[in-house]
Amino acid sequence: MRAQLPDFPWDALAPYGQKARSHPQGIIDLSQGTPVDPTPEFIQQAFRDASNSPSYPVTAGTPELRAVIKKWAIERLGASGDFDVLPVIGSKELVAWLPTFLESTTVLIPEIAYPTYHVGAVLAGADSVPVEIDANTWPMADLAWLNSPSNPTGRVHSVDEIKACINWSRKNTSVLISDECYLEFDHTAHSVSVLSQTGGDNTNILAVHSLSKRSSMAGYRAAFMVGDSALISRIREIRKHGGMMVPLPVQKAMTVALADDLHVAEQRARYNARKDVMRPALVDAGFTVEFSDSGLYLWCTRNEDAWTSVAWLAERGILATPGSFYGQKGKNHIRIAMTASDAHIAAAVARLKA
Ligand SMILES: Cc1ncc(COP(=O)(O)O)c(C=O)c1O
Repeated sequence: MRAQLPDFPWDALAPYGQKARSHPQGIIDLSQGTPVDPTPEFIQQAFRDASNSPSYPVTAGTPELRAVIKKWAIERLGASGDFDVLPVIGSKELVAWLPTFLESTTVLIPEIAYPTYHVGAVLAGADSVPVEIDANTWPMADLAWLNSPSNPTGRVHSVDEIKACINWSRKNTSVLISDECYLEFDHTAHSVSVLSQTGGDNTNILAVHSLSKRSSMAGYRAAFMVGDSALISRIREIRKHGGMMVPLPVQKAMTVALADDLHVAEQRARYNARKDVMRPALVDAGFTVEFSDSGLYLWCTRNEDAWTSVAWLAERGILATPGSFYGQKGKNHIRIAMTASDAHIAAAVARLKA
């Protein structure tokens, strides 16, 4: 299995990181989607308050956490009908292990995508098949990933595109998993959850959400899934046996984080303001920004090999991610993350202008 895993792509970026670090004013790292803005204080407090935690936590989540996720799913995602919820230890582990839990044999992944969808298929010994956005073109498979807003492109699926994915799932009796971890970061386009489009029949449909970006809690490892009760029951059973439970202080922190929208609006405004200053600077530097309607990233091209663009930026002390990390189709693009301080974004803009 290990032999089939792709090389860890970030190793290839290391020399460009070194180059960027040698800039007289230091590196501005816009390559990693790792939040840098502080976790809101009230969330930290809830975590600290729960630090006396002698007993094992429950895999299914505390009643309070389950209730707040259900309420949020109804009010924020537009979920209806019968559905269940399950907290997970960050969504990356779920993405990596779900095809194994579901014994999938063929997994459809977006042709430009977060690399862990492919890794999950490899870990399950399944075929991973890159597909276009339009689900009307999708082949048969037992599982498909949908990601809107997309990492890395920031593209948002239209309602019709989401409905086509649901139709594919119903026609093939296949599982559709919608990774919606950037849903809170609308900018110029509005993103909707798959759960708002099922008409209350959530059979074979799951939505995955994460507090890593929404609430700047990546270090807590806090995420959850919402959807088909029967599927979630199967997944919960395996996770119970495997000891895959979210630590209780993290569950407590998740509970207060999900009950509050104000800090999310503030974080959204921060990311969007950064995009608003960065986008024109990239355009003036010769880049075309594509999609990038929502989410945390600017997806750009200068119609040259991605590594040429990465090298050009590294000379200016800016580290970006080559689009080839996300699939062959991204080989002439770069991804610029807004997960840097306002001061770093302003400095990057100044370096691009210089
Ligand atoms: C599309 C997508 N899904 C899932 C994840 C995993 O996030 P986490 O494990 O922090 O919840 C990421 C992280 O960047 C991502 O970009």
